[in-house]
Amino acid sequence: MKKILVTGGAGYIGSHAVVELYQAGYQPVIVDDFSNSQESVLAGIEAILGTAVPFYRVDCADEAALRGVFAAEAGIAGVIHFAAFKAVGESVLKPLAYYRNNLDSLLALLAVMPEFGVKSLVFSSSCTVYGIPDALPVTEATPTKKATSPYGATKQMAEDILTDVAAAGGPRTILLRYFNPIGAHASARIGELPLGVPNNLVPFITQTAAGIREKLTINGSDYDTVDGTNVRDYIHVVDLAKAHVVAVRRLLDAVGADQVETFNVGTGHGNSVLEVVHAFEQASGQKLNYSLGPRRAGDVPAIYADATKAANVLGFKTETSLADSLASAWKWQQTLTDKK
Ligand code: UD1
Repeated sequence: MKKILVTGGAGYIGSHAVVELYQAGYQPVIVDDFSNSQESVLAGIEAILGTAVPFYRVDCADEAALRGVFAAEAGIAGVIHFAAFKAVGESVLKPLAYYRNNLDSLLALLAVMPEFGVKSLVFSSSCTVYGIPDALPVTEATPTKKATSPYGATKQMAEDILTDVAAAGGPRTILLRYFNPIGAHASARIGELPLGVPNNLVPFITQTAAGIREKLTINGSDYDTVDGTNVRDYIHVVDLAKAHVVAVRRLLDAVGADQVETFNVGTGHGNSVLEVVHAFEQASGQKLNYSLGPRRAGDVPAIYADATKAANVLGFKTETSLADSLASAWKWQQTLTDKK
């Protein structure tokens, strides 16, 4: 089994990617410092796979510690770099923490990988690099715009750094620009674990339905969209995880020639916030308490992916409907609520 180092492998997307990698015949090795995840995730992964995955509690920005992981795990074939801070609002309040964490960890990784001859890297990027796009859907050729938050700026900078480093003989890199991941593993052993009040829509919805939050406030209803609420491309987290397996396979099998490739990873469909709310009500059988509120600063009115390139080049297509994604999120929420 080829070893794949997964930084942030205890996180929301990372944990699902670890499961899919293992089930596809790779040996994931997790590096995580639990700064936005919990140790219980490792038990969830083990319960699904029937085996423990090697784990190192290391902050990726700690270059010496990261070097120790590569030294301890001989023969790492590739890296998926998820580890990063990801809250847009928090990044506005603590920009330095975001630049430090998200860039230092990438730079440390790029310093250590060549020391161990590791030449393949998949990077977690985001549709946030497109800013407010002029036309929809966005393709990989859609121009990037000035980021609306320090979080978004770290993703743009990371893409630039990786492109420069790859051009100078660094690792071959696939940049995956994620749209909005939602839902949980079908087993309900792993899923999203927001700390405190969720920023993201779907955990806020499921916590409201579970009675943890009183009501959902919809951030703006006067946008120029189908019903006035924001439009996003919601992708099931397991589908998104599978895109990483496909990307890793492409790099390790040396398919394609470009040193850097960029792919949108979305469903290709946009849904409004109200559509998500109503789809959740249908999928869960729960009536959701919600009201229309003011716009949230920094929100892009509408964005969804043109998913053609990932389909044509990677053979990647999403499989899970919005209804099934929301049903999985609800099942996960109920598991969490039962534990309490
Ligand atoms: C944002 C980032 C994305 C990042 C992700 C990580 C942008 C454009 N997108 O996604 O790059 O990876 O955060 O967390 O910066 N909503 C409500 N009420 C709520 C919560 C959300 O109406 O209580 C609405 C939002 O206004 C938005 C939609 O739901 O229209 C989705 O919001 P969210 O889940 O926070 O994701 P994004 O902001 O799209």
